[in-house]
Amino acid sequence: MPSHTPVVTLDYHDFLIAAHSILTSVAALIAAPAAILIGRYFRSRSWWFKAHVTLQTFTAIFVITGTALSLVSVVHNGNGNQLTGRLKDPHHDLGVSILVLFLLQFVFGVVAHYTHSEGHSKGSAFPTLTTPKNPLRHVHVVFGIVMTALLYAGVKTGMDEWDKVSDSGTRVPKGIRTAYWVLFGLAVAAYLFGWILEPIRRGSERDSVDAASLEKVEE
Ligand code: HEM
Ligand code: HEM
Repeated sequence: MPSHTPVVTLDYHDFLIAAHSILTSVAALIAAPAAILIGRYFRSRSWWFKAHVTLQTFTAIFVITGTALSLVSVVHNGNGNQLTGRLKDPHHDLGVSILVLFLLQFVFGVVAHYTHSEGHSKGSAFPTLTTPKNPLRHVHVVFGIVMTALLYAGVKTGMDEWDKVSDSGTRVPKGIRTAYWVLFGLAVAAYLFGWILEPIRRGSERDSVDAASLEKVEE
């Protein structure tokens, strides 16, 4: 007997939140982690900085357009706006905070790029932490990790939000939630492993060039 899979039609509101979810998920689960992992694993390659900036520019475009779509969807359904309305909730507040903090981090990155960084500290196991450089560079690295955690939180709370407000009454499929946790786990593991590798690789890359000088190669 043929099985009948119910066809779900998305109205305008649900179409907007679907587009919002896809754009922000690509930003949070693919573009931002890829940019950061490139910084972690390939800092001694000439192309790392260009790749980091290009990917983070895509992250910015997706976060900005994705958030703009969510504002339209909330207004469209008569649910007020970020600060008011019957469906105001933590995902909305977190989302707007993410947008503002992300833009700040983007500016930090650009400004940090124009600051000074010495060559590798001789014999240092963790040059990322010990190389003498402008404090703004350290701020950018630490804030970058916090920012990425916030992006993951945005997606998690967004999935819960979908279950509450979609007009079609659909729920986020279990497979998508599982994929989210798998991607999250893989990114965290890969990033931590990159830090563990730093002292090991430092031993074999004594003659490599400083990361800051490599930032200038592709300008
Ligand atoms: C980092 C990622 C995300 C950010 C920055 C973000 C941001 C936002 C913001 C700012 C709003 C509120 C708009 C307003 O109050 O006018 C919102 C609403 C919403 N978001 Fe997200 N979001 C993200 C990820 C997601 C994901 C992955 C989903 C779904 C799987 C999702 C589903 C929703 C839904 C359903 C709404 C409510 C729309 C409505 O009530 O009409 N979000 N989001
Ligand atoms: C286009 C804008 C950006 C520029 C120009 C930029 C620039 C840089 C620079 C110069 C460094 C090396 C810092 C050092 O001397 O140690 C760096 C590393 C890093 N950036 Fe960015 N960045 C940008 C956007 C972002 C964004 C938006 C995030 C977060 C979402 C981010 C997260 C990071 C992280 C976590 C690292 C450290 C990677 C590691 O070695 O573990 N960056 N970035």
